[in-house]
Amino acid sequence: YVIGIDLGTGSVKSLLVDQKGMICGEASRTYPLQHEQPGYSEQHPEDWVTQTLGTLRELLQTSGVQPEQVEGISFSGQMHGLVLLDGQGQVLRPAILWNDTRTTPQCRAIEAKLGSRLLDITKNAALEGFTLPKLLWVQGHEPELFAKAAVFLLPKDYLRYRLTGMLHMDITDAAGTLLLDVIGKRWSTDICEAFGLDPKLCPPLAEAMEHVGGLLPEIAGQTGLAASTKVFAGGADNACGAVGAGIVGKGATLCSIGTSGVILAYEEREQDFAGALHFFNHAQPEGFYAMGVTLAAGYSLDWFKKTIAPDESFDSFLSLVAEVPAGAGGLLFTPYLVGERTPHADAVIRGSFVGLDGSHRREHLTRAVMEGITFSLNESLERFRAAGMAVETIVSIGGGAKNDVWLQMQADIFGAPVVKLKNEQGPALGAAMLAAVGCGWFASLSECAASFVAYDRRFEPIPANVETYRGLFEIYKSVYA
Ligand code: XUL
Repeated sequence: YVIGIDLGTGSVKSLLVDQKGMICGEASRTYPLQHEQPGYSEQHPEDWVTQTLGTLRELLQTSGVQPEQVEGISFSGQMHGLVLLDGQGQVLRPAILWNDTRTTPQCRAIEAKLGSRLLDITKNAALEGFTLPKLLWVQGHEPELFAKAAVFLLPKDYLRYRLTGMLHMDITDAAGTLLLDVIGKRWSTDICEAFGLDPKLCPPLAEAMEHVGGLLPEIAGQTGLAASTKVFAGGADNACGAVGAGIVGKGATLCSIGTSGVILAYEEREQDFAGALHFFNHAQPEGFYAMGVTLAAGYSLDWFKKTIAPDESFDSFLSLVAEVPAGAGGLLFTPYLVGERTPHADAVIRGSFVGLDGSHRREHLTRAVMEGITFSLNESLERFRAAGMAVETIVSIGGGAKNDVWLQMQADIFGAPVVKLKNEQGPALGAAMLAAVGCGWFASLSECAASFVAYDRRFEPIPANVETYRGLFEIYKSVYA
């Protein structure tokens, strides 16, 4: 067996998988998000550790699997979040997360100082969510605390550190810091120097499938796992989501709707999107992926349901949406609840309902929220198409793949067939696959994907809906302006 751990924004999920890719156990725990001021988004790293250990204990207890039978563990995690440690490995302050938007001035300062060198080295634009602006924020606003910082980590790298005692950051996640030379796969000492950052703040790099150590004896004791269990570095949640959806080479495009939403495609070589799309290293050591991000995707629908019907189940809440035709009776929603990344890179913009009518019922608003999220993702897809990419099939995962009405809506708005996975497990399965290859069960990620990932139903675009949405998409785009 192997275990894949996905350290998400709202919860951690641990998955026990056998050599055939069968899911033999699953455990999940939540932790809170703190928004101390508008635009702030923080979490306590200790919560990640406590809750993850709880899931591991539960997996071992409920599955009946013996500790020595678990050969390897690996990780997937929310990207970009800043965890600062002092020289003793103690956490210096709460983690500043990917959806925290306090760092607009730091982004402007990065652009002013580095100019085109930023894109040359990191292949990405300066965005509030990325890690370097967060480091500069702490450097500027909490100088005494910053002076104590010995190293920075990303969320799942901190979790792995607490499980193994070893400091590493994997390359797929390091790509989202704005401190990595993405093509050369090494830390950029140039960027560190430009901002007076000691290069020692950057931890040792590891490949996603690299064996980086074993479990600390006390962690083995607390979870019931064997200390000999091999620990593999793991990857960013979007890289692991791609792996778990079988996107390990050129081919299908991924649409993932979690708290954030993502359109992602594998890239075999360096591409120049001039910062219009993110460009990160894939878990496939020689590969990359390009990606556009909607900040509040699942988050928007969650917010809407919490506000309107906090006690209802999601299934019942969405049940009437199918009765509302495409276009939600002329109602549009823009999902900018926490600002937007692709295509606007605007931390200040906020969302809207446009076109409310006295005949609209709750299900019109719900449908409009789902359509607005999907329109926003279509703006990313538009950027891929503008760059000359043929979008053939879209594999849909996450919350957007749990509802057939939404899957059909994706096919209609994207204007391309959408497929869902059999027994989808999200990034946690991708993490387990990294461990499976790391353990030597397969010669490559592609071989593992051929055995672990199976496709299910396919949703073809319905021409009349495609037509309706084409017109509405133009209006949707004009709402931002
Ligand atoms: C990607 C991003 C989000 C997080 C969500 O750039 O910020 O998708 O990875 O966990």
